[in-house]
This record gives sequence, structure tokens and C-alpha cells, in this order.
Amino acid sequence: MAAAWKSWPHLFHICLLLCASGAVSQLFKLEPLNSTVLQGSDVTFSATVEGTWQVMTWTVRRFLVLTVSTLGNVTSFSEQFSAKFCSSGDSRCVKFTIHNVTRNESGPVICTVLGEYGSQTAQLHVQERGVVNIVGGNVTVEQDQQVEFQCVAAAWFPIPSVSWTRNGHAVDSSLYNTTSMADGDSFNSTSVLKFQAVSNTTVECLATVPALTKPQSSSVFLVVVPKPPDWTVLIAVVVSFGGFALLVLLIIGIIFCYKRRKEKKRNYQDEMRRVRTQSQLSGVSAAGQRKGQVNAGYVPEGQTSVAPSELTDSGICQENGSNISQTPDVVNGNQAGSGYNSAYNTVDQSGYRKHRHVTIV
Ligand SMILES: *[C@@H]1O[C@H](CO)[C@@H](O)[C@H](O)[C@H]1NC(C)=O
Ligand SMILES: *[C@@H]1O[C@H](CO)[C@@H](O)[C@H](O)[C@H]1NC(C)=O
Ligand SMILES: *[C@@H]1O[C@H](CO)[C@@H](O)[C@H](O)[C@H]1NC(C)=O
Ligand SMILES: *[C@@H]1O[C@H](CO)[C@@H](O)[C@H](O)[C@H]1NC(C)=O
Repeated sequence: MAAAWKSWPHLFHICLLLCASGAVSQLFKLEPLNSTVLQGSDVTFSATVEGTWQVMTWTVRRFLVLTVSTLGNVTSFSEQFSAKFCSSGDSRCVKFTIHNVTRNESGPVICTVLGEYGSQTAQLHVQERGVVNIVGGNVTVEQDQQVEFQCVAAAWFPIPSVSWTRNGHAVDSSLYNTTSMADGDSFNSTSVLKFQAVSNTTVECLATVPALTKPQSSSVFLVVVPKPPDWTVLIAVVVSFGGFALLVLLIIGIIFCYKRRKEKKRNYQDEMRRVRTQSQLSGVSAAGQRKGQVNAGYVPEGQTSVAPSELTDSGICQENGSNISQTPDVVNGNQAGSGYNSAYNTVDQSGYRKHRHVTIV
């Protein structure tokens, strides 16, 4: 209480000052008093001064950068700063512009008018637009799988606010986490979004700062493929069945080949045996069995499944029975002796085949 009483005179003094300056400020107005802009843009302040004034100065970052006379003469510290009357020839309003503003110009911007007008101060905030990128690009997942997207917003000032959309609809903030860290005089933010994949979705990450009218964004496409049947089982089954079938085929093939070879061998042996027994038989039997010979020549062929042409061949051969008897006659002549007629018969059989080959040629 005592302190409050003690400060009374002080407060009264402040009030007096404020009221006095307020009276003057009605004649001198600076707009806007707060300006938030993006680095690289131009920012303009306007000063409206009632009555006749002589000189106006502009101070940025504690440096006097520009002066204007009531006649419109402008003296600028650098090309980055310029000023002119809001409407030509009307000294009541002056427009002051900072071109290509940088973060260095952040802070108070002070306009002072010579004399009792005093000065007015505005605050300039320069922000930086960084980049946004969803790491990894497009994603393809199976249905119901958990997906994770990482969005990196780099080189922003101040810390950007990061948000996400799915098919253009805002994502609940419980589905993502965003962390930020300083990178020099700007900030990097990393946001991780997790959700369960249901359908094809356009996923967008947005980052913004107040100076930005439209957020900076990056989007990727989430392709959701239906859950496939368990292919591994199917493939395993197909492969094993295929392998089994192949094995069976192989075994059957081997058995078949083996059988055929054995049969051939047996047929040959059978024939040989038959021929041998016949020769023995005919050796025992009397010589002049011409008819028997012809029959014997017919049977051992065992060619029931012989092609018709061969049959006719043999038919011809049989018709030419007399020829047969004639041709071997030469042999017979060479091998003189009717006792060899039997031998001749066997020869006749083998000779019979040879003879047929000759006819084909
Ligand atoms: C992502 O998918 C979209 C749509 O299918 C396509 O236009 C875009 O090129 C893809 N981006 C990348 C990085 O593959
Ligand atoms: C966000 O972070 C909190 C705490 O670290 C964690 O419990 C939560 O699961 C995270 N959420 C996501 C979507 O990563
Ligand atoms: C910020 O991001 C940029 C670009 O991605 C990277 O080069 C830099 O290392 C990051 N800084 C920090 C502190 O993570
Ligand atoms: C997603 O899109 C791909 C092609 O872009 C399509 O083949 C697929 O069927 C779609 N999935 C769904 C669930 O619509």
C-alpha cells in the first residue's frame, strides 16, 4: 500500500505525458503498427501528418535510413528504402517502403516528424518460408497395414506449424507427432504420421508460418493393395505337386524304357531260340518239306503288327515261293548236297529277310 501511495506522483506524471502525446498523435499516425511479412517481400508503412510539417525521418534497426521533406525531397541511406507521398502533391501522407526485406530488418520501425509531432513506432516481423518434403515419396502397402509418413519442414522461421491431410481432410492431431529443432537462425520440424491403411489416399503435409497466406505443402500417394491370399502356401503346394508329378513321370519313363529294352532283348532271344530249335527240328525231320518250310518262314516272323506294305512284301515273297527256292538254289548249288537242304532252309529264313531288303531297294 505504501509503495502504491509512493508511486502515485510518478503515475500521474506518466499520465500527463501520455495525454500530451495523445493529443499530438491525433495529428500524426503510423500504420500498421505491427507488420508480419515474409523475407524477400516489400513492406510498406504509411505516416499521416495533419498540419504543416517540415522534415520526416525513418529509422530501422536503430539506424536513420531515410528523410523526407514536406516538398517531397527524399534522401535515402540505401536503395532498399524508399518513400513518396501517398497521392502526389499531398504532403499529408507519406509511404515508406523497405524493399526485399530480410530478417535483419526485423524490429522497431520508427517514424519521427520534426518538432512537436514526435515519433511513432511500428514493429516489423520478418519470417522465413522453408521447404516441406514427405520423406520416401509414394508408398504401396497391403490393406490394414500400419503406415508411417515422415514430413520434414526445413529452414523455417519461426517454428512452422505442421499439419496433415488425407484426401484433403484434416488429420486428427493425435495421429501425428511433430518435433522441432533450431538449425542456425531457422528451424527444422519433423512430423511423423501413423495410421492404418484402408484405401488409396493422397497424403499431404502442410507447413506454415503466420506471414504465409497459403501453407507450403508436399503430398504423396498411398496405394493400398488388397491382402493377397497366402501365396506362399499356394506356391509351396504347386511346387511340391509339380515336383512330385515330374518324379513320377521320370520313374514311369525309366520303367518303360527298361521294359522295352528287356522285351526287345527277349524277343531277339526268343527268335534266336526258336530259330535254333527249328533248325534242330528241321535237321531231325526229312529234307523235302517244302510246304513246311514255307509255313516256318511265315510263323517266326511273328509280325502280326507289321505294316500292310510289309505284309504284302512278305505276301509277294510267299507268292514267289518258287523264286525263293530258285535264289537259294544258287546257294544250294554252291553248298552241294541235298543233306544240307535243312541248313539251306535256315539260310532260307535269314536269306529271306535279306532278300526282302533287296526288293525294297
Ligand atoms: C506418386 O504417385 C502419383 C500418382 O500416381 C504420381 O503422379 C507421382 O509422380 C508419384 N510420385 C513419385 C515420386 O513417384
Ligand atoms: C507421439 O509421441 C508420444 C510420446 O512420445 C507417443 O506416446 C505417441 O505414440 C506418439 N504418436 C505418434 C502418432 O507417433
Ligand atoms: C535441417 O534440415 C536441413 C535440410 O533437410 C539439414 O541439412 C540440416 O542438417 C537440418 N538441421 C538440423 C539441425 O537437423
Ligand atoms: C489403388 O490404386 C491402384 C492403382 O492406382 C489400383 O490398382 C488399386 O485397385 C486401388 N486400390 C483400391 C483399394 O482402390
